[in-house]
Amino acid sequence: MKQMILAAALAAALPLSAQKKADITLLPEQAKVEIPKEIYGQFAEHLGTCIYGGLWVGEQSSIPNTNGSRNDVLQALKELKVPVLRWPGGCFADEYHWMDGIGPKENRPRMVNNNWGGTVEDNSFGTHEFLNLCEMLGCEPYVSMNVGSGTVQETAQWVEYITAEDGPMAKLRKANGREKPWRVKYIGVGNESWGCGGSMRPEYYADLYRRYQTYCRNYNGNRLFKIASGSGEYDTHWTETMMKQAGGQMDGLSLHYYTVAGWSGSKGSATQFDEADYYWAMGKCLDIENCIKTHVAIMDKYDARKRVALMVDEWGTWWDEEPGTVRGHLYQQNTMRDAFVAALSLNVFHKYTDRVKMANIAQVANVLQSMILTKEDKMVLTPSYYVFQMYAVHQGATYLPLELTCDSRTVRARMGRDGDTRTLPLVSASASRSKDGKVHISLANVDLETSETLTVDLGSLKLKEVSGTMLTSSKIEDKNTFEQPDAVKPVPFKGAKISKGKLTVKLPAKSIVVLELV
Ligand code: AHR
Repeated sequence: MKQMILAAALAAALPLSAQKKADITLLPEQAKVEIPKEIYGQFAEHLGTCIYGGLWVGEQSSIPNTNGSRNDVLQALKELKVPVLRWPGGCFADEYHWMDGIGPKENRPRMVNNNWGGTVEDNSFGTHEFLNLCEMLGCEPYVSMNVGSGTVQETAQWVEYITAEDGPMAKLRKANGREKPWRVKYIGVGNESWGCGGSMRPEYYADLYRRYQTYCRNYNGNRLFKIASGSGEYDTHWTETMMKQAGGQMDGLSLHYYTVAGWSGSKGSATQFDEADYYWAMGKCLDIENCIKTHVAIMDKYDARKRVALMVDEWGTWWDEEPGTVRGHLYQQNTMRDAFVAALSLNVFHKYTDRVKMANIAQVANVLQSMILTKEDKMVLTPSYYVFQMYAVHQGATYLPLELTCDSRTVRARMGRDGDTRTLPLVSASASRSKDGKVHISLANVDLETSETLTVDLGSLKLKEVSGTMLTSSKIEDKNTFEQPDAVKPVPFKGAKISKGKLTVKLPAKSIVVLELV
């Protein structure tokens, strides 16, 4: 798949007063691949208040809920068209024993969430609650199995419990109130098995993966899509070993990539940052493209037909926890900077959907780069939520390759430290054509000061009208809070026009725009 970015490399920042120009050429005749809706996937881990308080308040709560899941969050997620939800972790998955989370709630044992702050959980949110939530959302469940501290039998029985019509596990499920099996497609066999999921070497995990997946059966026409634990960022040895030793036994291999300053020490504040920190984040987030290409090249060696999918099942920003919040709960605020990370990353994922078939932002509520923040009965939608909402038009549409020429600037490659630099293109773009023939172009002008005049050559596409939506804000640190929930919100965009087969767009500084062309 071809999308060329011809970024004119400028050694230094351009004069701030200049108005810049960028060109895009759409290449509709090269359109071949559908953008899987699962690129817009979400992740919900038992971590902090993602599940308890975020998604789930319990049937007895005074917060309005449907069978325990809070109504405001349900509604917001329905509007986002969430295609797939990954659960129960993350690191939590490899310490989770699913049988503790079924049956009458008063009989469920309590557990210590050792990975995330040592919080004691009551297991009131388990298999039934999760799968019922997915049914209410109309999304695919993605269940991560416990390989790190579980057993093959436990994993095999979980699949049977969820998907079999008859037999001992189905009988137990029925006794717990669910007659019909659920349909579950995606299962993860371990998570970060090189780290919190068991500190394994890939040579060992590859064999373990082969063993565990053998006993994950397809019951009654339910066809599992089996995903092996993959690399964190650039661990090419992991990918190489997994593809060589277990490529034939998997449907997908995961990849985790966070926009994070480093794993020790401060990761930087989510809300207080300077211009250099902001541009660092844009560069780090865009480096996911190189990371994907690196793993795709290895996968291509072993699987030229691209049968095995690359699943970016954790990505997003990772900042310091908000002051005053529980340590280990990874609660962070979300600003326009995070919205840009979302927009740029999604534009990258679209380009590789011949291999990348799923991506799950971490996480859906109250953890890392959340869509939603909750505090008791209040809920706030973050700037990242609005990017997912605006971009939902790309779900299931045909990817339209494009060529982009734009200015760039030199940015720090390391947060807070001079030294290595990267070249950052200042415009990011992606396009797709939906089944009804509408074309959508998502654009981001990363520049904090200067607007961009974009000319888009529509090629053979006969399009006459354009409308759009924009997310922007007066300051890049702007965010939505419980006191001011609507500080950052999409607005109609009027800066685009079509004339003689060319689209012209005036993209304001620090703006994210999605255009619809008919
Ligand atoms: O998303 C938070 C954590 O990040 C996940 O539990 C783990 O898989 C990753 O390290």
